[in-house]
Amino acid sequence: MINLSTFFSLSCRRVLAGMALLVAGTTFAANTADEKKLKIDDSTFQCLTEMTPVKHFYVDNLQGNLKGTVAVAKSEKGGIYPAGSVVQLVPGEVMVKHAAGYNAATHDWEYFELDVSKEGSTIRKRGFVDVVNRFGGNCFSCHAKAKPEFDSVCEIGHGCDAIPLSRPMIHAMQNSDPRCKSQKLTAEDMQALKQLEAFRALPR
Ligand code: HEC
Repeated sequence: MINLSTFFSLSCRRVLAGMALLVAGTTFAANTADEKKLKIDDSTFQCLTEMTPVKHFYVDNLQGNLKGTVAVAKSEKGGIYPAGSVVQLVPGEVMVKHAAGYNAATHDWEYFELDVSKEGSTIRKRGFVDVVNRFGGNCFSCHAKAKPEFDSVCEIGHGCDAIPLSRPMIHAMQNSDPRCKSQKLTAEDMQALKQLEAFRALPR
C-alpha cells in the first residue's frame, strides 16, 4: 500500500527531475545556437597570404572546419561551403558563410569590404544583399549570378560578370597585402601593380 505522502513526494521528485531536464535542455540549445552564431569583427581578418591557398584564392574556416571548406573550394563540381567558411581573392573583399538558414537571399553568405593597413583591418561595410564595393559594384547581385552548384563563388566561368582585374593584378594585390609581415613581390607583380595604378588613375 502506498500512502498519500509517499505518493506526493514521488510525483514531486518526478516534477523536479523533469524541470532539471528542461533547464539542462534549454542551456544546451542556447550553447549550440551561440556556437552557430559567428562573432566577426575587425580582428577576424588577417594577412591574406597566411590563409590557405586554393587555386588562385585563399580560404579559412572560423569554426575549425578548414578541411570542409578546402574540399568544396577545390572541387571542380562545386558544392555548398560549410558554415564558418571565409573566402578571399583580394585583401579588401571577403565572403563569410553563416549557418544554414541564416540568410536565405544570399545563401547565408555575408559580404565585407575592408580597409587594410599595416595596423590591420577595419570593416568598412558589411551585410547581405546591400554591400557595394568602392568601384560601385554590388557584391551580392554580381555573385548571385554564379550557377547554383558553385554557391555564389564566381571564379571564372561560373556565370558572374567579369571584374576588371587580370589574374596577374590579383596576384600582385595578394602579395602586397600591407597586413602581412613580409611582402614577396616578383618582377611580374611589380609590373601588374604599375598597370593597376594606371587603371585606377583613369577617370570614371
Ligand atoms: C561585377 C561583378 C562582381 C562584383 C560587383 C563583385 N565581385 Fe567578387 N568576384 C567577381 C568575379 C568574376 C570573381 C572571380 C575573379 C577571378 O577568379 O579571377 C570574384 C571573386 C571574388 C571572391 C573570391 C571567390 C570567388 O567568388 O571567385 C571573393 C571572396 C569576392 N569576389 C568577394 C566580393 C565582395 C566582398 C564584393 C563586394 C564588396 C565583390 N566580390 C564584388 C565578381 C564580382
